[in-house]
Amino acid sequence: MGLEVVFSPEMIARRVQELGKEISRDYAGKELVAVCVLKGAFLFFADLVRAIDLNLEVDFVRLSSYANQKSRTGKVIFSKDMELPIEGKHLLLVEDIVDTGHSMAYLKKVLEARKAESVKICALIDKKERREVDVEVDYAGFVLEKGFIVGYGLDYAEKYRNLSGVFELKE
Ligand code: IMP
Ligand code: MG
Repeated sequence: MGLEVVFSPEMIARRVQELGKEISRDYAGKELVAVCVLKGAFLFFADLVRAIDLNLEVDFVRLSSYANQKSRTGKVIFSKDMELPIEGKHLLLVEDIVDTGHSMAYLKKVLEARKAESVKICALIDKKERREVDVEVDYAGFVLEKGFIVGYGLDYAEKYRNLSGVFELKE
């Protein structure tokens, strides 16, 4: 299998700074909790929160929907919950990639039901081709029509997460 560069570390760094500025503006004066969706968002999250000029809080959740496969097989499982109280807080869910939309639609619904003040989604990549549920990506790093990508947190069978750029995985 080969790797083809899709987004270089420089492109990512530039885009993350832009997103950070936009988010800082939009949430000025609000109680923001940035929620990292593990594992895929860990690098994006670490860079993004440092680009946000607000006194925010961080928390972590873990969902599982892909069982080490390229296509989805089952449904979403909530395997690590939030730890901070969220009632009255503005939540920004930080995800690596939104594909079918099932994971983010599920997470958003669960957290809204717990009376968060607002729940928005920031995804490094908004991949449109296989969207099945209508979920809005409020802040998208990049839009991708199709393809399976790895790197900068994104994996294929748990590998490639430590690459600094995003690559398309070619058979
Ligand atoms: P969704 O519920 O289909 O939107 O699933 C999103 C999750 O699927 C992401 O958090 C990733 O873990 C995984 N995923 C979807 N597309 C890709 C990809 O191109 N590369 C790596 N993981 C992907
Ligand atoms: Mg994954």
